[in-house]
Amino acid sequence: MTDRELVRLALDACENAYAPYSGCRVGAALLTPGGKVYTGCNIENSSFGATVCAERTALFKAVSEGEREFEKIAVAGIKEGEDITFYPCGICRQVLSEFCGENFIIISAKSENDYTANTLGELLKNSFSLRKD
Ligand code: THU
Repeated sequence: MTDRELVRLALDACENAYAPYSGCRVGAALLTPGGKVYTGCNIENSSFGATVCAERTALFKAVSEGEREFEKIAVAGIKEGEDITFYPCGICRQVLSEFCGENFIIISAKSENDYTANTLGELLKNSFSLRKD
């Protein structure tokens, strides 16, 4: 699975976004070492703090299916009239760090042809962890 293919899947996933408040439709595609991809979209709520981002939707779907190891995630989205590169928010970086090491790759896309890759370690230094392994 190439980075570009994963970005394409993230863009497809944003079609299902429920974003009546921000108008920001976000999708994520999460790749396991076994080559399986779990997708997710953002799901907003009238009580704004209850909104869940696309990255956490994808991760929670995967974890609830028994997955525990991940290679990379692509994040992409659309907001009409704006040119946004979708980097995971701070909460999603912390949630990803529960299951993903510092070498986990995060591909942040502006479009199918315009994206950058960073490691989780670059985007989240000194993450909080109670894990002992
Ligand atoms: N959002 C995501 O789903 N992922 C990101 O990486 C950034 C933000 C969502 C949350 C909210 O529904 C909307 O985008 C605007 O913040």
